[in-house]
Amino acid sequence: MKSTEQSKEKLVIFDTTLRDGEQSPGASMTKDEKVRIAKALEKMRVDVIEAGFAISSQGDFEAVQAIANTVTESRICSLSRAMVADIERAGEALKGANAGRIHTFIATSPIHMKHKLQMEPNEVLEQAVGAVKIARSLIDDVEFSLEDASRTEFDFMCRITEAVIDAGARTINLPDTVGYSAPGEYGAMIERLLNTVPNADKAIFSVHCHNDLGLAVANSLSAVQAGARQVECTINGLGERAGNASLEEIVMAIRTRKDLFPVATDIDAVHIVPTSRLVSSITGFPVQPNKAIVGANAFAHESGIHQDGILKFRETYEIMKAEDVGWSNNKLSLGKLSGRAAFAARLEELGIVFDGKEDFNQAFIRFKELADKKREIFDEDLQALVSDVQMGTEDDVLTVIDLEVLSKSGQAPHAKIIVKYQDQEHSSESSGDGAVDAIFNAIEKLVNSETRLQLYSVNAVTQGTDSQGEVTVRLEKDGRIINGQGADTDILLASAKAYLNALTLMRNPGRLHPQLGGV
Ligand code: KIV
Ligand code: ZN
Repeated sequence: MKSTEQSKEKLVIFDTTLRDGEQSPGASMTKDEKVRIAKALEKMRVDVIEAGFAISSQGDFEAVQAIANTVTESRICSLSRAMVADIERAGEALKGANAGRIHTFIATSPIHMKHKLQMEPNEVLEQAVGAVKIARSLIDDVEFSLEDASRTEFDFMCRITEAVIDAGARTINLPDTVGYSAPGEYGAMIERLLNTVPNADKAIFSVHCHNDLGLAVANSLSAVQAGARQVECTINGLGERAGNASLEEIVMAIRTRKDLFPVATDIDAVHIVPTSRLVSSITGFPVQPNKAIVGANAFAHESGIHQDGILKFRETYEIMKAEDVGWSNNKLSLGKLSGRAAFAARLEELGIVFDGKEDFNQAFIRFKELADKKREIFDEDLQALVSDVQMGTEDDVLTVIDLEVLSKSGQAPHAKIIVKYQDQEHSSESSGDGAVDAIFNAIEKLVNSETRLQLYSVNAVTQGTDSQGEVTVRLEKDGRIINGQGADTDILLASAKAYLNALTLMRNPGRLHPQLGGV
């Protein structure tokens, strides 16, 4: 499998932002948001997009289906446990895909088999083989994962791997599910497996590492040096608990250290930063400033000595170019005088396409309103604005019609709000310990949601005091955690939007978790 870069083998980039990434507490996304992210991943030339876990909810099924029907350049994958109903649901969701993949899995470590599955190893093996056969009867491309592979007994790992390859699995994934492994050990496991399993040459070996010990990227790269040819990763390292290996770090390590890795990816790296921003604004998970590649400080040199060195000769302190990963895209986008055509063209460049004319018109109206308040409109503003419009145009959402907040020193702030729900307007008012507290209290008087506020954060979308504030509100109810977002140059209005967005999302039924036993 040769890549675009001659003489190097291709490393398949399998992005699971929309599946494992969405398992981050609070990171649930709507169907439209998932389609937008999938399009950005396609543009970046990701090989495989794991679009969801089709059986987990009707919403996930529809998202996988919509992505399968929209994306043509990347292979679209759905997760399924090693169960007939799961596999059939995945196959159904993928029917419209240009290229599809069913990813089926079962746990193989003694601890998971005994305590979670309560099954004997032979039963697990039989079920794995059966699952792969069913999946192959529906689709050509089947991936099988040995969940908790890094804690699986080596002989059993070999037996099950050989059997599922014989049954038709094309990719074998060996996850470090609990983020327990260390680079030397994990790489050695992959190498030993490749050298032991007799039919190993009939499949691509894949890795999927969690970041509980901060080693997900290091473990994945060690496995690549040992012979793995697919890495499962996510934008911004989003994912269950401490997250997954971050796509941007894997891709740029491979590209920057060509001397160390015998592989190349097909990723078009200039789309990394815009995609990172898109994922962050949709999920409400900010990127820490010192995050490698996509953090605001990743290419900022503060020390005078460094700045001096860079001015004299860039390579003294820079190992990558900021513009190669898309930082140069951080440019002035549009202004007050820009018309519909310029607006549409810029959205298209950002990979944003609206389903209907109505949504586009709404977005254009919002753009004009924003341009009246803010002289320069940047790409980040457009992304925030579009998220906001898409939230507000779906059926059955709670939207702010009017907000008035009185805040005077020495007095408790007071908020009056009008909220629209199913074409009816409802008004409410309340005081609070602060202006935001007053707004949330007023909303709660209307909805009485019985949710608990876990997090409230404001992030400036661009620089300057006229920046839009992007507010994230995290609510919890009966163990379910939901993030809501809202953006506006008025951060009080953004806060009200974020709170209502979280309440709207909270009303959607929850999803089944893939790691629930239930086999
Ligand atoms: O971490 C894990 O083991 C997974 C599997 C379902 C692939 O996410
Ligand atoms: Zn995982």
